[in-house]
Amino acid sequence: MASRIRTLEEYHAAYQQAAEHPDMYWGNVAEEFTWRKKWDTVRGGEFSPAGTSTWFEGATLNITENCLDRHLATRANKLAIIFEPNDPKDRHTRLTYRELHEQVCQMANVLLNNGVKKGDRVVIYMPMIPELAVTTLACARIGAVHSVVFAGFSASAIADRVNDAEASFVVTADGLNRGAKQIPVKSVVDDALLTCPSVRGVLVVEHTGWPVQMKEDRDIWFHDEVRNVAKACPAVEMAAEDPLFILYTSGSTGKPKGVVHTQAGYMVWAQYTFQNVFQVEENDIYWCTADIGWVTGHTYLLYGPLLSGSTSLLFEGVPTYPSPGRFWEVIDKHHVSIFYTAPTAIRSLMAAPLDHVLAYSLSSLRVLGSVGEPINEEAWHWYHQHVGKGRCPIVDTWWQTETGGIMISALAGITPSVPARAGLPLPGVQPVLLSQEGTELEGNDQEGYLAIKASWPGVIRTTWGDHERARQVYFQPYPGYYFTGDGARRDEQGLYRIIGRVDDVINVSGHRFGTAEIESAINESPDVVESAVVGYPHDVKGQGIYAYVICRNGLPDNDLDRQRVEGSIIEAVVAHIGRIAKPDKIQLVSGLPKTRSGKIMRRILRKVAEGETSNLGDTTTLLDPLVVEEIVAGKK
Ligand code: WTA
Repeated sequence: MASRIRTLEEYHAAYQQAAEHPDMYWGNVAEEFTWRKKWDTVRGGEFSPAGTSTWFEGATLNITENCLDRHLATRANKLAIIFEPNDPKDRHTRLTYRELHEQVCQMANVLLNNGVKKGDRVVIYMPMIPELAVTTLACARIGAVHSVVFAGFSASAIADRVNDAEASFVVTADGLNRGAKQIPVKSVVDDALLTCPSVRGVLVVEHTGWPVQMKEDRDIWFHDEVRNVAKACPAVEMAAEDPLFILYTSGSTGKPKGVVHTQAGYMVWAQYTFQNVFQVEENDIYWCTADIGWVTGHTYLLYGPLLSGSTSLLFEGVPTYPSPGRFWEVIDKHHVSIFYTAPTAIRSLMAAPLDHVLAYSLSSLRVLGSVGEPINEEAWHWYHQHVGKGRCPIVDTWWQTETGGIMISALAGITPSVPARAGLPLPGVQPVLLSQEGTELEGNDQEGYLAIKASWPGVIRTTWGDHERARQVYFQPYPGYYFTGDGARRDEQGLYRIIGRVDDVINVSGHRFGTAEIESAINESPDVVESAVVGYPHDVKGQGIYAYVICRNGLPDNDLDRQRVEGSIIEAVVAHIGRIAKPDKIQLVSGLPKTRSGKIMRRILRKVAEGETSNLGDTTTLLDPLVVEEIVAGKK
């Protein structure tokens, strides 16, 4: 296969060809897929500053024919999905490619019967169960644009996304178990939809059996509908650049934006990166622990593995339930050979007694992956030694919701895998380091803003309903480049090390939040006048959320009052974003360090939160330098 890289020499050759003859290279790779009609041009549009890249324009296809139908001839009875439930006492289930194909078709027919059409937006808010995968693919089959919202976001966050996407249909379940937590997802959706006039129907999948309220003329049970539909459903022919999905993600300003990926380029990038980074073989049992509600779940639980005809494990639970041995138990039970998780999970499991790992056989493992945030050396070594037993290459994969798939990473066992280095760029990816002024820093041993110099098939196409925003955030800051928002270092060997965000985005347990977004949630509390949020180093989460808050009625003078105010701040964040964005530390203050022009000096707040109070830098431009003394004295 043109796309498969198996040696270091092949990597260098592919890298060079993709850089020098991208049309030829990606045209060859694309030959491996099923098309209704082939493309007229491989690459088109203007990458930057217009941000209007196109890939495989003129082609038509359906991604689910590539994920499902094309495997039926040779892999009909191969397992597509292994489902491992939250509670280990419950039985796991499996779906072959034939069964998954049938279920996707049935779900697609249910959606069609309920008036969902090509181009409609469908919001999916579900537990990590096979029906989540099935629903997502069913949307793609009929050309509806899916927007999966992680089932940990609040009603108000769902409403924001539904309204921004003007979704006409929502798919949810009666309830969700995640570890020991239970979330009544249907009633969260009910609350959200009070302010969502565009939604005409809600499909509910029965999972927990909990009682729910069904709204007449709007809500329908999947199990009632599925009885009346056929087990086949023709796939809708889509144009290469029709939207496939919208996934909301946080930026440094404003509300989360709807990152849009399209049909053909995303498909090619998902399969290509999945197969090469993990060096997937036919009999691998592959497990990505991310929720489908995040981009990692989209590309590397769902699309990448299914496009490749692989067996993908879908886990409903959490790493620490019912014990911190759960991940290792699941690997042992299902003979997982490729395991892809986040540093935050590794750090939380490292803290538990090693017996939890030693109790299970991890001999099936062949490749380990890490994603979502920088992996610290200690976690890297623990993962390598205790999980991989020193024999499994680790791929530290750097990418973003906006990049569609992995951009910088080792190819397992082929290109260098060094602790705390993402490594070399994939073929087709041309990273550069820029100075603040936008000049390219040449040579190795350099540090700067990470940007990408040329279009690649998985690049973000637009932000839903507002192309100007995408252009301004990603393609205009440094014309000619895609700007990542990350800082990076190129070491002496030319390997990339990702340092972290250089903008006001915090990465908490691998989940992105904008400081502005959390501040505006906090400011919804009736007790709050103003707030400033920064990230600080956190042992398990990577970054924690530190909130400085000015109270409406001055600083509380007793503990009870303080607790009440802090409670109302947390409540506001939980209501407007979700429990996942809860501040780790709240410091009530009487003022914030502002310049004379009224700008908050976040640099100072970051230093205090990091505990670096001895060297706060220049504070002479502050309106009121005394504020800083008070903040330092009250540090949490
Ligand atoms: C960070 C997740 C260091 C980075 C796929 C990026 C990483 C943001 C890594 C995107 C890594 C992701 N090493 N940092 N291997 N992977 N990041 O959109 O700051 O949820 O900009 O995509 O996560 O987060 P997102």
